[in-house]
Amino acid sequence: MRKQIAAANWKMNCTFQQGEKLLDEILGAEIPLADHQLTIFAVPFPYLLMTRSEVEEEWNYNVAAQNCHHKKSGAYTGEVSAEMLHSMNIRYCVVGHSERREYNQETNAMLADKVNLCFENFITPIFCCGEPLNIREAGTQNDFVSAQLKESLFHLGADKIKTIIIAYEPIWAIGTGKTATTEQAQEIHQYLRSVLAAQYGDVVANEIPILYGGSVKANNAKELFSCPDVDGGLVGGASLVAAEFIEIIKALK
Ligand code: 13P
Repeated sequence: MRKQIAAANWKMNCTFQQGEKLLDEILGAEIPLADHQLTIFAVPFPYLLMTRSEVEEEWNYNVAAQNCHHKKSGAYTGEVSAEMLHSMNIRYCVVGHSERREYNQETNAMLADKVNLCFENFITPIFCCGEPLNIREAGTQNDFVSAQLKESLFHLGADKIKTIIIAYEPIWAIGTGKTATTEQAQEIHQYLRSVLAAQYGDVVANEIPILYGGSVKANNAKELFSCPDVDGGLVGGASLVAAEFIEIIKALK
């Protein structure tokens, strides 16, 4: 079975102490994960090592960075490279979150470089795509998201792309409390998989987890994750509340 993933994206939230407490509460629930299930905490850079050591003993719990730089190294004050993450044994990294695309002007071409640097450093990218409201209203969301995949990922060989994680996050559903309906989520996830299949074949496309993100909560996770092409979630707000995220992990197929 394809990996089913509950990924927490803390964004720029929690003090160090709050983060430790949150992890203790979630891990304290001792939710057993099957081989095909995975929980990932994407935490701020200064919390990576603490989080890594918290999850070290836990089966299928892991840690991710929320970003890495698109250059290998050099005079980029304040930035963090994929090589640095690798040297800290960090094995996942969120790439191309819509907030970074918007506030840090990250382009599809820059994200292709980030994805390459992740692979060079044995890091699995959690690659984000998703359309803004005006694109959804115009009904052109399929073209929009397929261009994001093509321009940032389709230079990869099948051996690499089959190990990636994709997160579809409609921007109009992020932090708004407005969730895509299960029909909307399944429709676009199935479409994304068909775009992957057209380029790489069905076998590869069927191996790639596609997570849904955008106001995933304890009370809608089960329904969203029950869609055949939704392989879990990338969760912002609800990942900051232990009781919420615990239910979201339990909702994994
Ligand atoms: P919310 O779950 O707060 O809508 O955020 C989604 C998101 O951006 C996760 O990366």
